[in-house]
Amino acid sequence: MDISPEEIRSHIDKDIFRLISQTADEMQLECYVIGGFVRDIFLYRTSKDIDFVVVGSGIMIAEAVAKKLGKRGKLSVFKNFGTAQIKYKDLELEFVGARKESYTHDSRKPIVENGTLEDDLKRRDFTINTLAICLNKNRFGELLDYFDGLSDIENLIIRTPLDPDITFSDDPLRMMRAIRFASQLGFDIYPDTFDAIARNKDRISIVSGERIADELNKIMLSPKPSIGFILLEKTGLLDIIFPELTALKGAETRDGVGHKDNFYHTLAVLDNISLLSDNLWLRWAALLHDIGKPATKRWDNKLGWTFHNHNYVGEKMIPKIFRRLKLPLNEKMKYVQKMVSMHMRPMQLVEEEVTDSAIRRLLFDAGDDIDDLMTLCEADITSKNPEKVKRFTENFKLVRRKLKEIEEKDRIRNFQPPVDGNEIMRVFGLGECREVGILKTAIKDAILDGKIPNEHDAAFDFMIEKAREMGLFPVT
Ligand code: CTP
Repeated sequence: MDISPEEIRSHIDKDIFRLISQTADEMQLECYVIGGFVRDIFLYRTSKDIDFVVVGSGIMIAEAVAKKLGKRGKLSVFKNFGTAQIKYKDLELEFVGARKESYTHDSRKPIVENGTLEDDLKRRDFTINTLAICLNKNRFGELLDYFDGLSDIENLIIRTPLDPDITFSDDPLRMMRAIRFASQLGFDIYPDTFDAIARNKDRISIVSGERIADELNKIMLSPKPSIGFILLEKTGLLDIIFPELTALKGAETRDGVGHKDNFYHTLAVLDNISLLSDNLWLRWAALLHDIGKPATKRWDNKLGWTFHNHNYVGEKMIPKIFRRLKLPLNEKMKYVQKMVSMHMRPMQLVEEEVTDSAIRRLLFDAGDDIDDLMTLCEADITSKNPEKVKRFTENFKLVRRKLKEIEEKDRIRNFQPPVDGNEIMRVFGLGECREVGILKTAIKDAILDGKIPNEHDAAFDFMIEKAREMGLFPVT
């Protein structure tokens, strides 16, 4: 890999690195920048998290640097871990003393002793993360590469610096990190490393849900998330952390009639949507859109394979999945549920007749999420039949055009009925009761069906008429 020493130096030729360099020299400590920041120089990426290793105390140097930064830096010390962090501008600077460490079999708590730079680097996760750049003045910018990290970056390889069984036993989350890096960077996992993940997969159970979720989200946000999910599946990790997804695998045939393999279909939809949107939650919706299929799969002698109501069953499965994976149980989850429950609606329109009334109902139910829903539904077209794809795509264009027309004309998206429940109660002298609900729904339906315009006076007249049929009359 040809990046000259001058170019390496140019990446650390900044005030903050000079300040740390000077502080390390004053304290007569060796200090290195390591990890993702150094890796990313060679990948032409930038990172805002910068890790420093000091041969000595990481906390002491962080305290000295923070003192010099004064109000410009915010220091946090984590005595138990022997680490310290400084927030400076948009950077997070992490300091740690070089250490030798090992972990007991059933816990994440390391036994730590002071060590050399090499001791420290060899206990790290992957060779691509073991590159170090010296910051001390007389070696400023010198690159250290004890484990052939540069050549692995060049050859796009994820490999552990030590025997992978040791590296993964030190921290089993690294099995997910390997897969996350492969998905994020488009790297391959070295065969030995891959085999060790498959061998050690059950150890993932000692890792906290939050850390797993973090890695899953990074896989979800990678350019082609299927890479990560296929690796999770192949190593056996997916079955442990996300059995609902592996249940989608397989394509059964009966009387010569097959159905698609919903696992690979789901991943194709996820990749499709990732080309169109960086919205993490829309990507989650893509991953989960068919999650209700295994539970609803039936064989029907006339219809073949059916998955009736898989969208609603899927919607109901989501809270349990989100809780287990430590994903947020808030409006983000509700959005994913809404997308999953509605994911077939635009397609049903395309297949049936695109009436104004159906379009209004879709707009009413989807509200502001209509564009995301259309994106999801289009991403769901993974047919290999070019004729079918062409037909769907053309009909989709029609639906989009109609959506725009109706939205401009009727403002249905955030529809508030022009006559509300309070007005109905006042006009007819009613309290809260069934009749109020019936009249509200009748007004809404009349507007959505295009029988009356979305306006107060028309809705009012319609309400009086409808109420009369029900034997209700205005009180004044
Ligand atoms: N590291 C490790 N094992 C882990 C986590 C981290 O060995 N389970 C080491 C790696 O050397 C890594 C460094 O700690 O480079 C910093 O970790 P982190 O900031 O989590 O990862 P980065 O490599 O910086 O990558 P990213 O920011 O994309 O997560």
